[in-house]
Parts: sequence; structure tokens; C-alpha cells
Amino acid sequence: MSFFIKRVRGTKDVLPPNDKIWSWVESVMKESAAFYGFLNVRTPVIEFTELFKLSSGETSDVVQKEMYTFDDKSGRSISLRPEFTAGVLRAILEDLNNQILPLKLMYFGPCFRYEKPQSGRYREFFQFGIEIFGGNSVNSDIELLFLANYIFKKLGLKNVKLEINAIGCKECHNDYRNLVLDFFNKNLNNLCSVCRARLEKNPLRIFDCKEESCQKICQNAPVTVMNICKECNRDFEEIKNTLTTCGIEYKVNPYIVRGLDYYTKFVFEFIVATQTGNLTVCGGGRYDGLSKFMGGPDLCATGFAIGVERIIEIIKTQKIEISETNSRDLYIACLISEAKIKVTKIISKLREFGIKADINLFEGNVKSQIQFANKAAYKYFLAFGNEEIKNNSCKIKNMSNGEIFEIVSSDDFGDNFIKTCIETVFIYNSVGPGMSS
Ligand code: HAM
Repeated sequence: MSFFIKRVRGTKDVLPPNDKIWSWVESVMKESAAFYGFLNVRTPVIEFTELFKLSSGETSDVVQKEMYTFDDKSGRSISLRPEFTAGVLRAILEDLNNQILPLKLMYFGPCFRYEKPQSGRYREFFQFGIEIFGGNSVNSDIELLFLANYIFKKLGLKNVKLEINAIGCKECHNDYRNLVLDFFNKNLNNLCSVCRARLEKNPLRIFDCKEESCQKICQNAPVTVMNICKECNRDFEEIKNTLTTCGIEYKVNPYIVRGLDYYTKFVFEFIVATQTGNLTVCGGGRYDGLSKFMGGPDLCATGFAIGVERIIEIIKTQKIEISETNSRDLYIACLISEAKIKVTKIISKLREFGIKADINLFEGNVKSQIQFANKAAYKYFLAFGNEEIKNNSCKIKNMSNGEIFEIVSSDDFGDNFIKTCIETVFIYNSVGPGMSS
């Protein structure tokens, strides 16, 4: 008996026409970051498990429950990356001598977390992210917030809310940790078993617990933002003042702790209200201590990552119109075999001039060809057969308004013909690289 193997739970396929929206989102994100001066970085999907344990923290949900971990054939523990930050920092530390600091990096690619699949939560999901290394002033944090805001505006997202929090540096942490320990110890009986275990190792993780009983207790717990040192407070004030001065709305949310252990000083999230609740589309913050913790030098760092699937779901539910990036210019249906070489040559010449032209990939009459060109959203259509060869001319049809351009060829469909085509049809109608609307 034959059976059909389906895709793995929590993963997805992106097929045409859905790929159009993906390509558009990817290009908006990358072009915006490039405009802000960020350079692209690519790191492996697999890393030694130790890297994520060390960076995300043993008590984080990501490490405790969500990593795809396996032993390779040499018995080393390997994990699929649950996020980029640790791998990108590892790559920079390995190549630090060749890098000029401060360094502004961007990335786009898949991450893997074994989470319960639901809308906006997948086991394989894509992140677009940014990391700045060696920027010790709050200008770096502000740069991140501005870029994320710029990207969301370019994508046309509505109702995006920025929430920020000051979680304190190493100096503030000891005092704050004692305050929190004391508070949770008094409420020990009402904490879930996981949080009770967390209390010893990392009490701040309790703020990230999804259990209702723990969340209730957290509402009365001392918050970091009230217990930070002078320097952290000065930086936080500067970030808030800059946002206000530049007209970027925000809210201080003292309960943002983030799900990964490496953060210090400043954290933030961008949230979109949806029909099914709030969706965090972007999260990030400063992680100045991580480099040293991983055995590297003192290296300030700050960054964020955006969940691409979540953005795409919001674009769909908010019915945002996307600009056409994949539209095709000209479909030539070659109707007789004797003209195939001629048509192939015309297409290759047009492509040299940046016109997105294609030949038919199936045989059929003019009606079926034009039906296909219409469905595939070609802007222009040309049927090429005996008539065209006999008359040394052809008729290019504008698919949206039916207008016909008759082009006469004086050189057997050679260079002059191509030039006339481009001048009369494509330049005149703003088609081609950098000219498409
Ligand atoms: P994160 O908050 O774990 O941070 O993930 C960033 C974003 O990825 C989330 O806000 C969400 O939009 C998306 N995301 C996370 N898990 C899933 C999932 N299972 N399915 C779909 N989307 C998901 C980080 O990963 C940090 N590395 C961000 C960062 C960069 N911090 C500093 N630099």
C-alpha cells in the first residue's frame, strides 16, 4: 500500500502565490536595514548545544523544553539554532581580528523551537534580526528602535505598540535579585513546581512563566525599573526622551523580562493587537555581558529579532496591499516549431535589457496561452506564429487595458526590433528594472 508523507507538524510550505508576500517582506526588511548601514551575516543552522545552553540559560524554556538536540556521528551534542544571537556572536568572536567595531549586522533565516504549534507559533520559523557589536552608547539601542519602527511603517502594519523596560545591569542585579527572592519565597506555596525549582537558579525567570497562578503573583512582585542604578536610569531616561522627541510612541512595561537569559540594562518588544490576542512581532535588547560569558573580550552588544511568519499573518489579516515584486513583463506564446529559435533569441535579448520575458512552456492554442498569461499576471502578451514571420511584424498586447502595439521588424527580429520593442512598449509604459511601478 502506498502512503503519502506529510510535512512535519509546526512547519509550513511557502508556495506561489504566497511566496510573493514572503519575498516582499524579506526585501523590505533587508533593504531597510541596508539603508540604515547594516551588513548581511550568514551563520550555520547547527551549533554545539553548549553554545545555546550557555547563552540562553539552562533555566530558559528554550533550553529546557524547546531545542532540537541530537548527537552527531562522533557523539557531539548538536542543536538546531533556536535563535540567531548566540551563533552570530560566536562567529564574530572567532573572527574579531578582521572586524571593525562598532559592527552593524543583519540576518534572515530559519530557527527551530519545539513549541506547541498554533497560529503565530511554529517549530520552524523565520527570523529577521539585527545585532550591533561594540556600541556602548544608548545610540545603538535607539538605532534599533528606529529601524524596527521604520520597517513596520514600510510594511504598512497598523496598531504596532512599542513596550520598553529597564532590567538593570550586573551592579543593580544583586540587590534586585535579593528583593525578588525574598518576595517569591513568601509566595512559595502558590508558585508552580517549575518556578519553585527556578527560584534557586534564576528567580527572574519566574516573570516569564505562562502559568496563571505564577502570573498573578508576579503582578505584585518588585519590578526592576524601580530598582536600577543611577547609570541605568540615566540611559533609560535618554532612550525615553529621544523616543518622545522623535514622536515614537512607547509604553514602559515593567514586566518585560524576555525569555532568554543574556539580557541586561534595556529590553523591548513590539506588539500587535490581533483578534486572538496580543502578538509579539519583535523582541530584543542589550546583552553586554554575553561575550565575556562565552569566553570572549568585553564587547557591548544589542539587537532584536522579528518573527517573519507573525508579520505575514498580520499583513494578511490587516489586508495590507503589497507592492508587486515578482510581476512578469512579457509572455511570448510561440505557436509554430519553426519560430522557436527566433523567439528564444528575442527573449534572451529582452532579458539582457532587464525585461522579464518568458516563452510558453506548454503547447496549446492562442486561447489557452492567453488564459495562462492572464492567470500568471503577465503585463504583456505576444503570440508568435506564421503571420508574424510572413509579415515581419508582431502585435504586443497590454493585458490590463487591451491596447495593442504593432512593431514592424526591419532586421528579421534582430537588435533593431528589440530596440523598437523596448522604446515603444516597455520604456513608454515604465516596465523594466528600476522603472516598474
Ligand atoms: P525571541 O523573543 O525569542 O528573541 O524571538 C524573537 C521573535 O521571534 C519573537 O518576538 C517572535 O516574533 C518570533 N518567534 C519566536 N518564537 C517563535 C515561534 N515558535 N514561531 C514563530 N515566531 C516565533 C530572540 O530570538 C532574540 N535572539 C532576539 C535578539 C536579537 N535579542 C538580541 N538580539
